[in-house]
Amino acid sequence: MQRSIKKIGLLTSGGDAPGMNAAIRAVVRTSIYNGLDVVGIMHGYEGLVNDEFVKLSAASVANIIQRGGTILKTSRSARFMTGEGMKIAHANLKKHEIDALIVVGGDGTFRGAKQFGDLYDLTIVGVPGTIDNDLIGTDFTIGYDTAINTVVEAVDKIRDTAESHDRLFFVEVMGRDAGLIALRSGVAVGAEAILMPETHTDIDELVEKLKSVKRKKSSKIIIVAEGDEAGGAFEIAKKVTAKVKGYDARVTILGHIQRGGDPSCMDRVNASRLGYEAVNALLKGKKGVMTGIVNKEVVYTAFEKATKHIQKLNPDLVKMIEVLSL
Ligand code: F6P
Repeated sequence: MQRSIKKIGLLTSGGDAPGMNAAIRAVVRTSIYNGLDVVGIMHGYEGLVNDEFVKLSAASVANIIQRGGTILKTSRSARFMTGEGMKIAHANLKKHEIDALIVVGGDGTFRGAKQFGDLYDLTIVGVPGTIDNDLIGTDFTIGYDTAINTVVEAVDKIRDTAESHDRLFFVEVMGRDAGLIALRSGVAVGAEAILMPETHTDIDELVEKLKSVKRKKSSKIIIVAEGDEAGGAFEIAKKVTAKVKGYDARVTILGHIQRGGDPSCMDRVNASRLGYEAVNALLKGKKGVMTGIVNKEVVYTAFEKATKHIQKLNPDLVKMIEVLSL
């Protein structure tokens, strides 16, 4: 055990994700169990610059495992990403005698952690918390499972009305750089097509596909990841309906409902495990890494690798979508 660490700082950053509270609880209680002090930093990196530090105790994280959002609040801090911002943040860490940081967030959070850690030779460990699931080094990020279940519940409802009216629906889901929410939820709702930034979207091909669906379907649902290169759901709907007449088309943007809600069982368990392992990683002397779970085993991935987006989707899955949407 690395004895030099006595006090840990903890923050959540970037888009919130259901399960972040479960991770906070796990970090706090594992730290206390190991005789370490733990301090929360409010509003992510912004609070690090603004000196928003709060002492956390085992009791202060009671009754939060089941709650969405993050009790530490979050932000996307532009100020922290400047030389001046990092200098103030570093001075605040020293002032509060923080020996190590645990940051919960996505790729932007870890890029910030990498830069900050390198600049001041800091001990920082990451916990993957983003609904997008777009990090390398973990099978599932915290929040992804809850978000895709929210999408499935919403699209099942859309399917009912689409079926009654014989309508074509374009449903936009979150994921500005990644289509993994679209992919998994699209498979689960039996979508007729799934449009994602990782695959090329050809409007003519999509039109052909809609025309050639072998049997006459009453409803058709196209899931569109917000980051698709052909545009958002409204734009794509416009392009498609301009080329093929006779569709009664509608668009739904699911938006931020995907980020809220009580975390699923899977998110609570993963978040607990990842938070627990982040403290263990610090105790083992690790720094500059994200904790993850791959094939049920805990792994550590360097920040610079974790933030590289998954570029290629499993081709078997892409083929399967094609086959199952006949
Ligand atoms: O990174 C998570 C995420 O929900 C993305 O899927 C989405 O593009 C983005 O955050 C939205 O961010 P904001 O809440 O700042 O608009």
